[in-house]
Formats: sequence, C-alpha cells, structure tokens
Amino acid sequence: IEVLNRVPVIWVNLQDCAGNSEALLRADGPTVDELILDIISLEFHELLMAPSGEAAEIQLEDAMTTFKGEYLLFVEGSIPTADGGIYGTIGTSGEKYVDHIKRVAVDAAGIVAVGTCATYGGVSAAYPNPTGACGVMDIIKDKPIVNIPACPANPANMLGVILMYAMTGELPELDTLLRPKFAFGTRIHDTCERRVHFDAGEYVEEWGDAAAQAGHCLYKMGCKGPMTFNNCPTVKFNRGESWPVAAGHGCIGCSEPGFFDKFNHFEAP
Ligand code: SF4
Ligand code: F3S
Repeated sequence: IEVLNRVPVIWVNLQDCAGNSEALLRADGPTVDELILDIISLEFHELLMAPSGEAAEIQLEDAMTTFKGEYLLFVEGSIPTADGGIYGTIGTSGEKYVDHIKRVAVDAAGIVAVGTCATYGGVSAAYPNPTGACGVMDIIKDKPIVNIPACPANPANMLGVILMYAMTGELPELDTLLRPKFAFGTRIHDTCERRVHFDAGEYVEEWGDAAAQAGHCLYKMGCKGPMTFNNCPTVKFNRGESWPVAAGHGCIGCSEPGFFDKFNHFEAP
C-alpha cells in the first residue's frame, strides 16, 4: 500500500468498553501491525502505547503540538454531559471528558468517531441516560466528522476510512448521519444471505426449530436487519468468517441511532 504520508493518529477513549480498539486488533487487511508500522503514525492510544500516567499525558501534548492541524483524531466512547460533565474525567488533573474532547479536537484535521457510543451515545445513552451521554457530533460542530457506528464498528470500515485518507488525503463521501456511504449505503436486509427465505415466507418461529436449523429468516425472532444500514453481510467479522445472522441470531440494529431504546432491548417509557 502506497501512502502519501504516514498519517498521524491520536485515538482517545472516553465512556466506552474499548470494543472498537479490540475489533481493530483483529483487522485482517491490513493487519494492525501493518497499519501501525507502515500506514499511520499512531501517536497516542491508551490501549496500544507503552507510556502511562504522566508520561502518557506528555505524549499526548507532544503529539498535538508536533502534528498541529495534521492529525486524525479517532474517538471511541460517548461523552457524558449531565451535571456539568462530572461523570467522566481523565488524567492527573481530572479533566472532564467533555473538556478533553474539545481540547484535543481543536487542532485535528478531522475526526473519526468509531462505534455507536462515539457516534450516537450508544449503550450509555440508553434510557434514562443518567450521564447525559452523547456522541462527538453533538459536541464538536466545526470539524469534519466521519461516523462509523456499530457495536463494535467493523474494522474493515475503520480501515477503509484510514486507508482512503492515507492514500488520497480525502475523507469518504458521507450520508446525512455522517456515515461513509461505502459502508452504510445498504440495508442489512438487502444483502442478507437469508433474504431468499424472507421472500419465500420461510421464518424461524422458535429457537432451534427445523427452520432455524435450515437457516431460514429470523424476522419473526426480532431481526432488525430491515431497519439497519450496515455492510455486515458482505464484509462480515473475524477475517470474513461470520456475522450475527449467519451465527443464527437476528441483527439487533447495533449501528442505528438510539438502537437500545428504539429496538426495545430494555423497557423505555
Ligand atoms: Fe432480513 Fe433479518 Fe431475515 Fe436477513 S434474517 S432476511 S436481515 S429479516
Ligand atoms: Fe450490528 Fe446488525 Fe451488524 S447487530 S453487527 S448491525 S448484523
């Protein structure tokens, strides 16, 4: 892969589980070591870097100064805003996440929000959302933002954005929710391998029944593929091995805004 420059990347984790970082570690083309050693210059990532504590804070400051206006800022996790933002703090100064993200974003060339938490607030924004969790685009209004939702975001989609930027200096074409069209332009339902069974009226009615064993459609078991835009059926996960519907469970719409409440996983008013 020929890159223009090794793009400096700062990756911050906020109110999150680090599942998107874990997903990136399992990328297969390029692998994470090829990504870090040949394509980007990973300047800051709490999970992957050696420094910790004050040394990590110094590393972040150095990167922001050295690559001012050049770095891509990846954000993983939601931003708590209730009660002045006290529910999420970071560093030796106890800086609130909401202040932290604004400060680190100021000199970024662009921002990539990875995972449903960083894009729409995710699980922590589910009713009653006690921390007032929200996504990056609710806080930062003056920077180019790319949203890569899902829980976790597919590493192929993260890499697609990184590689395009590294090779062309451009961010991808986006839809109205700031999602790359190359990844979120189709509904799960329209590329699902079980779609022939939906069209034929062949549904799983009970877990483990004969239709389940035959791989029939999971719509009656609650599959949200018809309401969800993502490329899971074609890109899949774990080196193209499988994806939720292939594994026998319907799509829960994890990449849609407000999916926890909208799709009734938990009781909402
Ligand atoms: Fe659509 Fe889900 Fe049925 Fe696939 S399993 S065809 S996504 S309803
Ligand atoms: Fe999420 Fe549905 Fe894909 S649950 S991972 S959007 S199949």
